[in-house]
Amino acid sequence: MLALKGLILSGGKGTRLRPITHTSAKQLVPVANKPVLFYGIEAMAQAGIDEVGIIIAPETGDEIRAAAGDGSAFGVRLTYIVQGEPLGLAHAVLTAEPFLGDCPFVMYLGDNLLQGGIEGLVSAFRAGAPDALILLTPVPDPEQYGVAELRDGAVVRLVEKPSRPQSDLALVGVYMFTPAVHAAARAIEPSGRGELEITDAIQHLVDEGRRVEPHIVKGWWKDTGRLQDMLAANRLVLDTIESRVEGELVDSQVDGRVVIEAGARLRRTTVRGPAIIGAGARLSDCYVGPYTAIGAGCTIQNAEVEHSILLAGAQVHDLLGRMESSLLGRNVKIGRDARQPRAYRFLVGDNSEIGIL
Ligand code: TTP
Repeated sequence: MLALKGLILSGGKGTRLRPITHTSAKQLVPVANKPVLFYGIEAMAQAGIDEVGIIIAPETGDEIRAAAGDGSAFGVRLTYIVQGEPLGLAHAVLTAEPFLGDCPFVMYLGDNLLQGGIEGLVSAFRAGAPDALILLTPVPDPEQYGVAELRDGAVVRLVEKPSRPQSDLALVGVYMFTPAVHAAARAIEPSGRGELEITDAIQHLVDEGRRVEPHIVKGWWKDTGRLQDMLAANRLVLDTIESRVEGELVDSQVDGRVVIEAGARLRRTTVRGPAIIGAGARLSDCYVGPYTAIGAGCTIQNAEVEHSILLAGAQVHDLLGRMESSLLGRNVKIGRDARQPRAYRFLVGDNSEIGIL
């Protein structure tokens, strides 16, 4: 059997995560202080896949290259493949065809997180040798997802974001394909939203009489495309971290699962885990509550932060109320301003959201 290759989709528009995606790739937003994308690359490495292609967009590709490099840090070889426009997941597959050649491959959406990795899935694919294998999980809101209908254990129909879903089984963003998918992706037409949908390509395989096997996911799965999903992914990963205090604590205390990275300094601060404080962060007179990830080099003074993600270099000071369920981009500054006249003063980019007390 030909070796399996990996394909991680890290292009796209990221409209649902604006304004973060105005300046940065959503796949690089950290979950428990590690870019979402890295979890996918690590899953590939764990499953023994060492040739991995990464689909990138022209706008954010350089940043992704700079972050993931040649893949040696993960034990894989990374090949970057530029998709000129985000014309859909099946279009991304076609764009990667020269890299994939005749190899079967695992496709992994770069903003997805799958607990337990992909080793089980790869074994099921090798054992059953279907033409495609799709991962499914029951969800309460199937109209938001690609949905699969099964009959006698086989996939019979796939619909992208159906208005009247016939099943609650959503497609998880990890798929396994044989090279048969390339012809299927060429055979389909763009959908109503102008994209070549992977669901249509898989439906094409089903209609041709090819064997598409379902695989129900046992652990959790998260698509981090929206703020609330990003926060949920952060919660799930923080729940699994091992406590480690490498930074300096002065008159401070940590309770529960907490990671304080090297060079972080906390004064008169309480951290109640699960939480992670990044390298070089400076916290004084603070309370950091559960499910919070503070990025490297952040500064927090005289404030309470909970259930939030702060990207590197963010600064928060002198808040009267607790900040929660927030995502702050790199170098964002939020603080109480003593100047007269007393007023709210904002310098805020497009599509930002601010809630005040
Ligand atoms: P989506 O989250 O479905 O699409 P998107 O990134 O355009 O986001 P939004 O809907 O908020 O505008 O994409 C899933 C993953 O696949 C994500 O990592 C981006 C990637 N992708 C590509 O690489 N190429 C594409 O053409 C598309 C549509 C997505």
